[in-house]
Amino acid sequence: MKIVLTGASGLLGSAFARSASRRGHHVVGVVGQFAHDIAGLEETARIDLRALDAVEAFVLESFPDAIVNCAAISDPGACQQDLATSRRLNVELPEKLALLSRHLFATLVHISSEQVFDGHVEIYLPDSQPCPPNEYAKQKLESEKRVHDLAAEFATTLRLPLLTGNSPSGERSFHERLFLAWERGEPTKLFSDEIRQPCLSDNAADLMVELCERNDLKGVRNWAGETALSRYEMGQALLRHFGLPETLVEIATRGDDPKFAHRQPRLAFDLSSLSGKTKTQPQTYSEQLDSLVVPAPRRQWYNAL
Ligand SMILES: NC(=O)c1ccc[n+]([C@@H]2O[C@H](COP(=O)([O-])OP(=O)(O)OC[C@H]3O[C@@H](n4cnc5c(N)ncnc54)[C@H](OP(=O)(O)O)[C@@H]3O)[C@@H](O)[C@H]2O)c1
Repeated sequence: MKIVLTGASGLLGSAFARSASRRGHHVVGVVGQFAHDIAGLEETARIDLRALDAVEAFVLESFPDAIVNCAAISDPGACQQDLATSRRLNVELPEKLALLSRHLFATLVHISSEQVFDGHVEIYLPDSQPCPPNEYAKQKLESEKRVHDLAAEFATTLRLPLLTGNSPSGERSFHERLFLAWERGEPTKLFSDEIRQPCLSDNAADLMVELCERNDLKGVRNWAGETALSRYEMGQALLRHFGLPETLVEIATRGDDPKFAHRQPRLAFDLSSLSGKTKTQPQTYSEQLDSLVVPAPRRQWYNAL
């Protein structure tokens, strides 16, 4: 199958490229600023995805069987700071890709986020109603609506939780950001009252490949890992995994700093409706840890400890 993949240089897109190529698919990756090789891509194109006419020309020329959209402005602060760019990437790009998927009769896999929920429910069911608490979440929810209004029979949107994993830049995932802060000597306070259900990017990518290959899982779907735990617990488990000193992570609560008080206290999904139908199964946090490596840019610092 020929697949056009946007965001191929990101944490999730790069994992998808590896997973799809292992399954024998031909992946054409679109990157933005990233300038190095990405494993699993047969072809790489550098396109500014804000230019929707260029996106359209490229996708039509590529004539794919599937389009996978991993490009986004995924930092909530950055979304709020530059509304024009974040709306272009997070709302108008998916809308354009939905039109193209309908035009080409191509499958579309689009990525949304757990952030569409406000975090005041113990566990979100497949049909729970979103209540987006910030601009990033509003954009993601709007993208879901536009994609499924335009291309319901071709599209699956996967709402993902906090992602773990190893990114091409070594600076995008949860543990990679912590390593960066530790190398700089910055304190890392992690909240004990912010519960998440993290998922390894490779696991989400395997599921996305299944979604490209199957026709019976269209619609908006929730996915995550098997373990719900606090960010503080995640940090402590990382320290143990890498043999790092306990003092690198400090415990905190969201209320300690008004800047963070608005963050969702608990985001956890019931996964039974999807996991009962797919080969890919949710992983525990400890299974995810086994896949994590010391980020390449931090190896010298780590080896000198
Ligand atoms: N990371 C998480 O914890 C998480 C959680 C839930 C949902 N998600 C969602 O999962 C998807 C993938 O996230 P991710 O963590 O893999 O993101 P990421 O690592 O930040 O990667 C973002 C990708 O978008 C590309 N991009 C951004 N602006 C671009 C532009 N103007 N032109 C071309 N490419 C552009 C980047 O390309 P360059 O780097 O080459 O410029 C990069 O490949 C997103 O939809 C995100 O919202 C992520």
